Amino acid sequence: MAHRWKNTLNRSDITPIEHYMNRRQLMAGLAAGVGLVGLGSSVRAQPALEPNSFEDITSYNNYYEFGTGKDDPAKNAHRLTTSPWTVQIDGLVDRPGDYAFADIMDAMTIEERIYRFRCVEAWSMVIPWNGFELADLLEMAGVQPGAKYVAFETALRPDEMPGVRFPVLDWPYVEGLRLDEAMNPLTIMATGIYGKDIPNQNGAPLRLVVPWKYGFKSIKSIVRITLTEEEPPTSWNKANPREYGFYSNVNPEVDHPRWSQASERAVGGGLFARRIDTLMFNGYEEEVAGLYKGMDLKANF
Ligand code: MTE
Repeated sequence: MAHRWKNTLNRSDITPIEHYMNRRQLMAGLAAGVGLVGLGSSVRAQPALEPNSFEDITSYNNYYEFGTGKDDPAKNAHRLTTSPWTVQIDGLVDRPGDYAFADIMDAMTIEERIYRFRCVEAWSMVIPWNGFELADLLEMAGVQPGAKYVAFETALRPDEMPGVRFPVLDWPYVEGLRLDEAMNPLTIMATGIYGKDIPNQNGAPLRLVVPWKYGFKSIKSIVRITLTEEEPPTSWNKANPREYGFYSNVNPEVDHPRWSQASERAVGGGLFARRIDTLMFNGYEEEVAGLYKGMDLKANF
């Protein structure tokens, strides 16, 4: 499969935590002793990129089909049967049908992408995903010229998902992207974390990851992908349209109605948990700002 993506954040860029701390302590010392306050604030503006631990990434989750508590998915998602798994791809495609997950995996090149994950609740993590570009999967099905959007749907299995008894969302969970967002080389279907199969609580066996959007766009355990002409509905927008729009781009300048989006709490690190400035498009501005040229991002939040 084609490789369009250039990795700008890889393991060699990652600051080992002990170096980060030394530098931070050094900066703090300098700032206090010599008055280099400017240096201190530039450290704050540069989020550290060390990945979160596998434990953090897999124990603090949002997957409401398994409960609304952060630890519910880790407790309950083992009930989900993920093999065999089929993804139905339909709508405006040349080759609609049921694609076996095993066949998709055989056809794709799996690579590692380390992305910052920014939740709309204003916390963040850095996650080493394994996966493939969504564009490659869409090309496998053959996108027709009339297609403008991609709709996604999560499995709905009341027997395996204790959370769907409660009408917290209109099940099944659905999401959508504009076609150019879906085809962007940063957009991946994740199938692993830290080189292991993706755990159920993180959306096994395949989930969307769109690094410049809030985490709630990254729909889990996908069973259906539909190419459409019209903008598809999205679960959070249906639940609360005032708070969650279709675009959901990470934007420090557009606050959530109930809290600021200007900074985020970097999860993990125990004592060293810290607040960092949120970057426009979650730091991927150079790669994706062009997708929204001429759009009012306050109206299209
Ligand atoms: N997908 C489904 N099917 N159900 C969900 O409740 N929660 C979303 C998103 N995808 C959700 C989902 C939200 S709100 C977030 S922040 C991310 O998944 C969390 O992903 P993580 O648990 O892997 O960090």
